[in-house]
Amino acid sequence: MTNQKVLFITGAGSGLGQLTAKRALAGGWAVAAMDINASGLAQLGESPKLLKLVVDITDPAAVEAAVDRCETELGPITRLTNAAAIMPLGLLNEQPRELIMMIMAINFGGMVNIVKIALPRLMTRGSGEFVSYASMAGHWPLIYMGAYNAAKHAVAAFTEVLYHETRNSGVRIVCVCPPIVATPLLEQAKGTVWPKIFNVFPPIAPEAVLDEIERILPGKALWVFPGPLTRVSWWLRRWIPGMLWWRVHQIEGI
Ligand SMILES: NC(=O)c1ccc[n+]([C@@H]2O[C@H](COP(=O)([O-])OP(=O)(O)OC[C@H]3O[C@@H](n4cnc5c(N)ncnc54)[C@H](O)[C@@H]3O)[C@@H](O)[C@H]2O)c1
Repeated sequence: MTNQKVLFITGAGSGLGQLTAKRALAGGWAVAAMDINASGLAQLGESPKLLKLVVDITDPAAVEAAVDRCETELGPITRLTNAAAIMPLGLLNEQPRELIMMIMAINFGGMVNIVKIALPRLMTRGSGEFVSYASMAGHWPLIYMGAYNAAKHAVAAFTEVLYHETRNSGVRIVCVCPPIVATPLLEQAKGTVWPKIFNVFPPIAPEAVLDEIERILPGKALWVFPGPLTRVSWWLRRWIPGMLWWRVHQIEGI
């Protein structure tokens, strides 16, 4: 299989990653779909252009083996998308240390593994795309979201610096910062803490996130802000953080 577009995507067993994988397959791409969740990957069905990789993103050796398999069996990666993440919420004072470290290991450390293992292949070829999923939570910290915020701020900062350091490499990098999106990730908030502020911002559709990525990728911008209020929220956080915190305390009652 040569000269075909190849997507390597993490978090492909659910939500945005799964939808991305399905869209890519429907569009004729070959897809290496990586996730720790085998049953989520099974929902992608069967295709000679689909390689399912049940891998924990925090395991660098396993990620390297997955990337090797992708390039051997499907071809050189055209687009690398990192969407794997977890989002258990809670007050920092109450979340166990181990859980906080796990959130960082998956959401930030997993991205580092992908960047260090897969991205150099694109750099060497001087072509390709890296779609890095941060979040609006990577710009706007909120009560109950501290550990997730910390990991997503790390992803956003890392991706921003990477974008500037590699600007002459031929590899196109975007950092995706969605607001609340209607995916199974939200079940993790329901299973821990559902911040009241989530009721103020209704979730956007996952399709809107993917459409915005496709709109931004052909240009030069780093940030992808899907959803009607996202960019303005980003500006408000930068210019009036005190007023936003006042409102957050009011909403959460803390
Ligand atoms: N849904 C939202 O509201 C929202 C908002 C902003 C940003 N995001 C980000 O978008 C991306 C996709 O999220 P989603 O909403 O589709 O979530 P999701 O929970 O539907 O999918 C995440 C996938 O990551 C996988 N995963 C978790 N730990 C893993 C590990 N150790 N190794 C490999 N795979 C692992 C899960 O099994 C799951 O299939 C994430 O980076 C998330 O932080 C989501």
